[in-house]
Amino acid sequence: MHLRLVRFAFMAVALTAPAIAAEKVALSVDVSKAGAKIDRNIFGQFAEHLGQGIYEGIWVGPDSTIPNTRGIRNDVVAALKALKVPNVRWPGGCFADEYHWRKGIGAQRTVTLNSNWGGVTEPNSFGTHEFMDFLDQIGSEGYFSVNVGSGTPREAAEWLEYMTTDQPTALAKERAANGHTAPWKVAYLGIGNESWDCGGNMTADYYLSQLKIYSRFVRNFNPTQQDKEQMLKIAVGPGGPETEWTETIMKAWQHHHWSWDINGLSVHSYTVPRWPPSYKSVGFGEAEYGQILKTTLQMEDLVSKQSAVMDKYDPQKKVALVVDEWGAWYAPLPGTNPGFLVQQNSMRDAILAAMNLNIFARHADRVRMANIAQMINVLQAMILTDKEKMVLTPTYYVFKMYVPFQDATFIPVAFSAGTYTHGDISLPRVDAIAAKDTNGKLWLEVTNLDPNEPVEVEASLAGIAAKSAAGETLTAPGVDSVDTFEAPNTVVPKPVVAKVQGGKVALKLEPKSVTVVSVEQ
Ligand code: AHR
Repeated sequence: MHLRLVRFAFMAVALTAPAIAAEKVALSVDVSKAGAKIDRNIFGQFAEHLGQGIYEGIWVGPDSTIPNTRGIRNDVVAALKALKVPNVRWPGGCFADEYHWRKGIGAQRTVTLNSNWGGVTEPNSFGTHEFMDFLDQIGSEGYFSVNVGSGTPREAAEWLEYMTTDQPTALAKERAANGHTAPWKVAYLGIGNESWDCGGNMTADYYLSQLKIYSRFVRNFNPTQQDKEQMLKIAVGPGGPETEWTETIMKAWQHHHWSWDINGLSVHSYTVPRWPPSYKSVGFGEAEYGQILKTTLQMEDLVSKQSAVMDKYDPQKKVALVVDEWGAWYAPLPGTNPGFLVQQNSMRDAILAAMNLNIFARHADRVRMANIAQMINVLQAMILTDKEKMVLTPTYYVFKMYVPFQDATFIPVAFSAGTYTHGDISLPRVDAIAAKDTNGKLWLEVTNLDPNEPVEVEASLAGIAAKSAAGETLTAPGVDSVDTFEAPNTVVPKPVVAKVQGGKVALKLEPKSVTVVSVEQ
């Protein structure tokens, strides 16, 4: 056929073929049915001495040509401030059970080995004072993991005294001599890390004995934190859906002696379809997109199972479930040190982050803290750096869009999600949460998991007279689209305006998108 005729034939098809109708999903939100508070701490972060998470990612040293304040990168601080990071877990991870805090204070720092992560030297230039300075600069609170595996209760107790006492003890004087006279606040204390694995390969009963000792002797002395604002203690919990460990700790806690207590039980759960992590973080297709999201949805089952055990021993929900390591764990990027856990961050990770945050929000009565792994340059990071360069990831943007949900009141959303299918994988087509912020404004989050089809959402709102709704949407050309130092704006949020009519909010969601809007009344 002549070329012009071919073109004409295509045009005819294009003109006459019916437009593909977007899938429709109805949401129903009743503002009078308020649920639990979505604790801002579920948006917590994790910064371990691992690869370039601390050194280069946060700490460049005061003599660096990279703009810094007392050694801490200014660009990273500015980016993190916008996330209103509620807490940062530090110094590990597996690293914490080999960390000796004394090596990281004073004018002379001891160089040690980071035997967990790449076998590299650990200069200890970023220690207690630098971490506290970092927290001050970004406006966050510290979640300290103390060394149970290779440390002693005495070492941990002295660290806490060093940080928190206002009495003129030898440790307080040493702190002052090292530049900080006033006591610091220690908001959260993690007693060990993965004690069933890298933290010492303990049985639950053995760990329980350690927990009681550490809980008793590792005290907070800060006089401003004695009552409501006490330091919250978090015990090591399981590393998956298995509930034996949780049973042991919670059963003992139910009738615990006055001399020990906990406020949280941790759980770790990474999105990894199989170990060792082999899924690629770049250049993958729809099948890998579906598989990773299917795996990440197991978080719902895990949280439900652990919560059910906790409910048995703690019906008043005094002990929080703390998901203090979560996120996608992929194969290391080729050419990087495998011990540094370097991976890219794509549109898929943005959807994954939204789905997990929504699961935590739906369990807000029990899940009151979570820490994505990790903050910078490691696993599912917010930020990637390369010397003086910095780029924000799709996951960063999700956390930024979710800031209004911090401490907001959960509002249940009823909807029929529909189904997205690829090969033998079926997933809910949409996910959604709603919440009322501390000023009484309603916020809606809707995720379209379908990478190919848009979705038309119509939300009926009872209990408020909606006048307008607007916000931001995050989408990208491909499920594997990433932000790079060369092209940092491939996956960035764009403004979105919803139609509001007769109390209903209508939104068209792009394929593979995360959308957050606020409703004005
Ligand atoms: O986040 C990386 C590692 O994963 C942590 O150090 C450890 O706790 C977990 O196994």
